[in-house]
Amino acid sequence: MSFHKNHWLLFSVIFFGYIALSWIAAIGPAIWVQDHTRALPGSAPMTPVERRGLQVYIAEGCIACHTQQVRPLKMDAVWGRPSAPGDYAHLKPLDIWQPYAPAVLGSERTGPDLTSIGTRQPSETWQYLHLYNPRAVSPDSVMPAFPWLFEVVANAPADAVVVPVPPAYAPSAGTVVASDKARALVAYLLSLKQVPLRASGANNAAAGTPVPPENATAGAEGATLYSNHCASCHQANGRGLAGVFPSLANNPVVVADDPAPHIATVLHGAQGRTIEGMTYPAAMPAFADQLTDAQIAAIVDHERSSWGNQAPKVTAKDVAAVRKGEAK
Ligand code: HEC
Ligand code: HEC
Repeated sequence: MSFHKNHWLLFSVIFFGYIALSWIAAIGPAIWVQDHTRALPGSAPMTPVERRGLQVYIAEGCIACHTQQVRPLKMDAVWGRPSAPGDYAHLKPLDIWQPYAPAVLGSERTGPDLTSIGTRQPSETWQYLHLYNPRAVSPDSVMPAFPWLFEVVANAPADAVVVPVPPAYAPSAGTVVASDKARALVAYLLSLKQVPLRASGANNAAAGTPVPPENATAGAEGATLYSNHCASCHQANGRGLAGVFPSLANNPVVVADDPAPHIATVLHGAQGRTIEGMTYPAAMPAFADQLTDAQIAAIVDHERSSWGNQAPKVTAKDVAAVRKGEAK
């Protein structure tokens, strides 16, 4: 009996050979990886709202311009530590028709990596404004606007999320409120936070790699640090956004002889102050965990000597003193 004339035998060998090879080369290893990848300690599973936000993220094509993967390269260090399989363990198939984990890794970085956007830009107000029109907060942005995630209403209901759009970008009449989709998307974005790898994490080749402090590559250069951490809200020219983020030019706290309130604001954030007769809907995030004393001193100095401001210099010691005093 010759093998090539018995079509049943020929077919079976090819068919089962194909299945066996697929199992050995692809399906088996994939299942092994899935079983051996545990979510990192300290990371939280996605809430239902965040999962809906992930669906909006995919549907709106954010993946076309944004990655969620930090490569083990020096140029990627600004985004955090190198990504590990455990970082993606909470991504589950969205439904029965999409039986694979959603591909949020991305391959194109027209915009910044979003692995840790929830840490880098924790302000909901900023995120809403930026989605409504990126130019409102980031004047040279090429990111498309997503106005269809918002509604313009005459009277915002009490439970609505009102977006304080600066006049230049606001519709001629009405109030901009976030739709459920926008709320879910922002909840998802704010949930994107890298957690440290533990040395014991069995699943990660890169286990034990210390988390590089944010801006490990940048020195304590005030102007650079300001543009990385503060300019998204207070803007490069220090003038903020009318009605949304206060101006730091000639701001009484910034130019005061005593730098302590200014330093304390940067360390611990602020909310609900009346600043030069205005109150602001957004909150200022705290930077105590992200920036060293020397970095904060450099930023504060930069603010105190830019945009026409002239106030005495501060040192890392001043920052350390405020940090200690407030911690008590
Ligand atoms: C055509 C490319 C493009 C698309 C599509 C796009 N973005 Fe962007 N995105 C950018 C660019 C460029 C920037 C940097 C400038 C800026 O801040 O607007 C950016 C910035 C951002 C930032 C701020 C990142 C940071 O580090 O400050 C967030 C958050 C963001 N995008 C979210 C989204 C979301 C969510 C979507 C989908 C709804 C989206 N982007 C779609 C190009 C894009
Ligand atoms: C997410 C947007 C955002 C970012 C980022 C941000 N701020 Fe603010 N900042 C605000 C808001 C909003 C206020 C007003 C807080 C309030 O109403 O109490 C504020 C207030 C301040 C004030 C106090 C002004 C006053 O008169 O009391 C200072 C100083 C300041 N910010 C400096 C900084 C510095 C320095 C950085 C970067 C390290 C920074 N901010 C980053 C939004 C931001």
